[in-house]
Amino acid sequence: MAAQMPNPPIPLTERPAWTALQAHHREIRSVHLRTLFAQDPERGERLALEAIGLYLDYSKNRLTDATIGLLLQLAEESGLRARVDAMFRGEPINLTEGRAVLHVALRAPRGQSIVVDGQDVVPLVHAVLDRMADFTNRVRSGAWRGQTGRRIRNVVNIGIGGSDLGPAMAYEALRGYSDRDLTFRFVSNVDGTDFAEATRDLDPAETLFVVSSKTFTTLETLTNARTARDWCLRALGDEQAVARHFVAVSTNAADVARFGIDPANMFPFWDWVGGRYSLPSAIGMSLMLAIGPDHFRQMLAGFHAMDAHFRTTPFARNLPVLLGLIGLWYTNFFGAETVAVLPYDQYLGRLPAYLQQLDMESNGKHVNLQGRAVSYDTGPIVWGQPGTNGQHAFYQLIHQGTRLVPCDFIGFCQSLNPLAPHHDLLMANLFAQTEALAFGKTAQELAAEGVSDPLIPHRAFDGNRPTNTLLAERMTPETLGKLVALYEHKVFVQAAIWQINAFDQWGVELGKALALEITPELQAAADPPLAHDSSTNMLIRRYRQHRAGS
Ligand code: F6P
Repeated sequence: MAAQMPNPPIPLTERPAWTALQAHHREIRSVHLRTLFAQDPERGERLALEAIGLYLDYSKNRLTDATIGLLLQLAEESGLRARVDAMFRGEPINLTEGRAVLHVALRAPRGQSIVVDGQDVVPLVHAVLDRMADFTNRVRSGAWRGQTGRRIRNVVNIGIGGSDLGPAMAYEALRGYSDRDLTFRFVSNVDGTDFAEATRDLDPAETLFVVSSKTFTTLETLTNARTARDWCLRALGDEQAVARHFVAVSTNAADVARFGIDPANMFPFWDWVGGRYSLPSAIGMSLMLAIGPDHFRQMLAGFHAMDAHFRTTPFARNLPVLLGLIGLWYTNFFGAETVAVLPYDQYLGRLPAYLQQLDMESNGKHVNLQGRAVSYDTGPIVWGQPGTNGQHAFYQLIHQGTRLVPCDFIGFCQSLNPLAPHHDLLMANLFAQTEALAFGKTAQELAAEGVSDPLIPHRAFDGNRPTNTLLAERMTPETLGKLVALYEHKVFVQAAIWQINAFDQWGVELGKALALEITPELQAAADPPLAHDSSTNMLIRRYRQHRAGS
């Protein structure tokens, strides 16, 4: 199927909505949120949206109805609707790799049909999910045993990037739903410390490794997998143990077999699933082992609910579209360089790291679909930590620093661990932060409180710092699916408007290739001739002189 290249008649920065937004920004950039709220007492109710169980309050943003109108016009002028349809239809919108982008098929319900290259992929997806469920049930029931006949008590996921961050984030997020008799570890770094610390207290006879790699060529994952095999065989002594203690998740059956993992113990997925979009694929194997097939399917249902919302809801009431447009407003018109994601939920502690890959690997691009350098900023730097911890670390800069840091606050009305008074205190802090960021504290207010003149500039808060607040009832597998899909589609919306390919990642290749050149230079017995720049040559020499054993 030919790729439907969006070929906008005029470049992004010359589109009517873009130039109108520039003029509008000049009018609004010094308008304070205090003024916007004073002018419209119902702003907090009006600029909010509830859909599929998620509540988004976007009223504390530096925008008006006119801003939203222009941003929606920009989405239309950018052909967003056609791009969304092209993705859901399975067109090869990942142009540089000639692939469809169909993570939405991973959560399509049984019976739906999505055709790629003449084949309906939904039955394939469900066949793999059924195999995963069967395997999960056997491990959790004790029917699947290790080489010595002992039950599996520990599961170690070995993977990196999308083959680690998704399962690791979701395992943390859904820990409340996990089988507490099983221990889960996630090994990603090629630093041997990661493997050593993850396994030091585990018994190989009770440990299952899930080697997760889309390509099965990733240096870190293969190195860790070989170390795991040695660790296992050293204890169990028998090559046959690999079949009982290793399963693989990959698109590359040949290399999985070459590694020594029985293809019967491999759970496949497909090249139309990007690594950072692969959590709902078999890459979620270790997560399913933790939470069980039913909870995993509930998570998929949450993903699907957001997919359906994104595909069918008019843009003005579409959660990912609004989040994407508001983010773009700050990136391209206010010059904001970062966005902070601040979940007020300990279970979501890994969400910012997960969203870093999702957003920054997708939209960290400097050329458009035609390969021409863009003249505007693209993906922001994504960062964050759970509240309230971040409040005692970096919120100072968000409140009083010189940079504009738009923030997404995420909270739940009910806690899975309702230890009074913790949850009320947690949520009070979330609401307080968004209020303080928006409205600040003026010099007059401080003077009225008796603050001395010299201290007033230090203690004044300008406010006018924008935030979104996302509220859901409670952390459930379904809610997690909705949240992750919300951000996936937000990233898609921005990429569509910026006219960039969100689905390749060529920028990671050069470093990988250079590391392959440097490794033998570090390992050579005699000093090798070095042909790098003087800095890299010097670093290599110094390492060779000082490393252990030299
Ligand atoms: O190097 C980046 C990357 O290709 C990511 O896009 C991917 O998620 C990660 O490496 C791991 O790749 P794989 O699953 O093929 O091991």
